[in-house]
Amino acid sequence: MAKKLFFSGIQPTGELHIGNYLGAIQRWVKLVDSGEYEGIMCVVDYHAMTVPYEQATLKQRSLEAATMLMACGISADKALLFIQSYVPQHTELAWVLNCSCMIGELSRMTQFKDKSKDKGESVAVGLFTYPVLMAADILLYKAAYVPVGEDQIQHLELAREIVRRFNSRFGETFPEPQPLIGEAKRIMGLDGESKMSKSMGNTIALSESPESIWKKLAPAKTDERRKKRSDPGVPTDCNVYMSYHRYFSPAEDLAYVDKGCRSAGIGCLECKKLLAKNMEKELGPIRKRYEDLRQHPQKVEAYLNESAEKCRAIAEATMHEVRSKIGVR
Ligand code: TYM
Repeated sequence: MAKKLFFSGIQPTGELHIGNYLGAIQRWVKLVDSGEYEGIMCVVDYHAMTVPYEQATLKQRSLEAATMLMACGISADKALLFIQSYVPQHTELAWVLNCSCMIGELSRMTQFKDKSKDKGESVAVGLFTYPVLMAADILLYKAAYVPVGEDQIQHLELAREIVRRFNSRFGETFPEPQPLIGEAKRIMGLDGESKMSKSMGNTIALSESPESIWKKLAPAKTDERRKKRSDPGVPTDCNVYMSYHRYFSPAEDLAYVDKGCRSAGIGCLECKKLLAKNMEKELGPIRKRYEDLRQHPQKVEAYLNESAEKCRAIAEATMHEVRSKIGVR
């Protein structure tokens, strides 16, 4: 049976964090390893230009993001991994799709509203049309599935709308891409108040040392009921349990902290120490592979170049069809 194709992307903005990992990257690896899916993954450097950025470090950050994805388990024998700007058809298709997308639709995007808040008209047009480039990323490969976190659902709904409009005007061309949303769809930051995000400064990076992670975890907010060591708590009201323990700890440890928290048999620090140990079990090997791969940048670059070459061939075939349908060549 033919494999199902998924596409997903990640921005090279700052270091990748455990929200990216649990919400997206870990699932990409699982989908590829399941043998049911073919995967194309992309570090979206052109998207990273939509907000103020350092041109001197963008390329390096893209390479670091790709290196981290490889450290997490994406590899040349299993999937394609490339950097968006290596395949110029992405921006070409984005232009075409810009003409099938309405200003009203883009104005309703909550990420655009958040990022452009208080900026008046001093917002790059690229930030406004960001979701159209995202639609182009997916549609160039005619991918049917897009594994992402919850924050990208609205962008995918727009991509589907763009597909319907394009197909009805120019003939059946693209499938409507479906989001694949997992349980860890919205990992909260250490503050427990907003989504984990680099811009909020509430992240745990995938490359962080256990000591640095502990410095952040130890003071992290837990269930408010646990003011004193002897006050019992409710794990489902605790961000540390709901956002991290639940995903990093095995069932027996979850049962132990659930009981210990509800009976005040254990304190929050003991609970967090167990979490830190379990996080290290998962993140330690990733960090080690990341450090090893950083010593061999040519390995990373060879994989990215090889994938980009294959992607350019697929993308060019799609653009050939698109150019002919829209009447330009
Ligand atoms: P980005 O770079 O913000 O995030 C990459 C992936 O991580 C997920 N994510 C989270 N999941 C759960 N909890 C969190 N706190 C959390 N923070 C981030 C995101 O949902 C995403 O899946 N626009 C995209 C990149 C993109 C893309 C695409 C994605 C460009 N083209 C085509 C899919 C298909 C973005 O900015 O993701």
